[in-house]
Order: sequence, then structure tokens, then C-alpha cells
Amino acid sequence: HEEFTKVKNIATVELGRYEIETWYFSPFPPEYNDSLKLYFCEFCLTFMKRKEQLQRHMRKCDLKHPPGDEIYRSGTLSMFEVDGKKNKVYGQNLCYLAKLFLDHKTLYYDVDLFLFYVLCECDDRGCHMVGYFSKEKHSEESYNLACILTLPPYQRKGYGKFLIAFSYELSKKEGKVGTPERPLSDLGLLSYRGYWTRVLLDILKKHKGNISIKELSDMTAIKAEDILSTLQGLELIQYRKGQHVICADPKVLDRHLKAAGRGGLEVDVCKLIWTPYK
Ligand code: COA
Ligand code: NA
Repeated sequence: HEEFTKVKNIATVELGRYEIETWYFSPFPPEYNDSLKLYFCEFCLTFMKRKEQLQRHMRKCDLKHPPGDEIYRSGTLSMFEVDGKKNKVYGQNLCYLAKLFLDHKTLYYDVDLFLFYVLCECDDRGCHMVGYFSKEKHSEESYNLACILTLPPYQRKGYGKFLIAFSYELSKKEGKVGTPERPLSDLGLLSYRGYWTRVLLDILKKHKGNISIKELSDMTAIKAEDILSTLQGLELIQYRKGQHVICADPKVLDRHLKAAGRGGLEVDVCKLIWTPYK
């Protein structure tokens, strides 16, 4: 049964001006499983089996952005917060779409329990989704991100690191540390490693004198374990007299920073207008 259900069903999706090849199986309702291609409304994420249905839908659908609140706008980039309880169908459709690019995530979540942060590029035709992350409203494991996706046509442009940075800005506003839900995919881990390395090493470079992992965690909202594993991975941690000591030779830091790749798109915190979910 398992093997049966894992076979990739939908080969391509049409979304806005893109036709996108899918990567993995996604459990669409059975009546969609005989289609090789699905047509999505890029705004409300309703999906259909035929182009004519989409065209008819687009004449009626008056959404021009994701449902929910715009909580960030900088230049042409906007971020919308969508409550899965208030917009259940949108949340479910987003999960169906995302699963096409996520290998290991199960979709048996109750979307009610999640908030979706949808990143858009906006122009005069509307706000076009480039990616998103989901976040549990209440996480006992201090997860600040459940799933993250940049749609393939937009990948490798820094949006992934923007979404990661955004998830930590929300954690800072909550006054909490956060960590992504595990397991991470290979691309997810690469993106997180790059983000953690850049943020931590930028601080170490500027900082004078000793700094502890706890202090780094307070400054960045990155969970202490993730800081330790990042710095250990870079061989910047020594263990002396029962304590972790961070060694921060400027030349070594610069070498690692170069290797960590580009910084991604910056989150301009002044443009984030948000209060934590209660
Ligand atoms: N090959 C090699 N490295 C890659 C890569 C690829 N195809 N895609 C991303 N990376 C690494 C690079 O280190 C990159 O930094 P760089 O461009 O400065 O070298 C870093 O990841 C992040 O790149 P960025 O452009 O900010 O990320 P993105 O917008 O491409 O999004 C993901 C990253 C993970 C969100 C995206 O790959 C994705 O949606 N994957 C499918 C879903 C998924 O696996 N989600 C994570 C589940 S835990
Ligand atoms: Na994930």
C-alpha cells in the first residue's frame, strides 16, 4: 500500500505564468489522480483539471493576493499571514501544492493549528506567491517553522534565506528561541546551515571579547543546540575546563563566511508589522 501511494501522480502544475514540473507525490483527492497536469488559481490556490475551468475561474475569482493580513512590505515584496483556521481550504490547497516539492512531510496535519506565511512578488496584476513557510500556532518543541518552500521558478535567488530570516524575526518578536521542525531536506539543511553560519559569524566578527552560546542565542533567536552544531561543524568550538569556548580568529571567520554563500534577501525589520498569535 505504502509503495503504491508514493508513486508520483501529477507531473506538472500551472501556476500564474509558470508551468512547473513536480518533484514528489502529493495526496490530492482521488478524482484528480488521473490528471498529469493540474491548473492552480495563483491567488486562492483552487486547483482544476482543465485549462478552460481555470479560465472560467479567473474571470470570477476576485482575490489578487493570498487571503489574510499583509504583515510586511518592502519594495515589491510582501508577506501575508494566513490563519489555517480562518482559511482552511486555502491552507489545505497550499499543503497539496507544497507536498509536490517536499519528500518526507506528511500532510496529516490539521491546518487549523498552523499559520502560513506566504511571500509574494507584487506588480499591477496582483501579488504572486514565490514561496511560504508554515508555523504551528503553539509549539511545545519551540519549532518556529514546520515546512518551507520556494517554488522552483524562484529558487536560488535568496528567497529561502529570506523566509528563514523572517521566521527568526517572528521568534524575536515573541521573545522566544526557535528551531525548524525535523527532519530537514538536503536543500533545507543547506539553506539553514548557510543562514546560521552567516548570522553567527557576522556577530563574532564584530564582537569584542568573550561571548557565550546563550548570548548568541538571545541575540539571534537561534536555538543553542543549532548554534553549537553550526560552530562545531566549522570547528570553531573548543572544550576547555568543562566549557565550550568559541574561537574567533578573524581570518578563519572570513574564510567560512566566504564559503557560506550569499546572504540572501534581507528582511527589513522596520517593515514588519506584526503581533504574536495569541
Ligand atoms: N544546489 C545546491 N545548493 C543549493 C540549491 C541547489 N539546487 N538550492 C539551494 N542551495 C543552497 C545554497 O547554499 C543556497 O545559498 P547560495 O545560493 O548563497 O549558495 C542556499 O541553499 C539557500 O538558497 P536560497 O536561494 O536562499 O534558497 P531557495 O529560495 O532556493 O530555497 C529551499 C531553499 C530549501 C526552501 C528550496 O530549495 C525548496 O523549496 N526546496 C524544496 C522544499 C524543501 O526541501 N524544503 C525544506 C524542507 S525541510
Ligand atoms: Na520542512
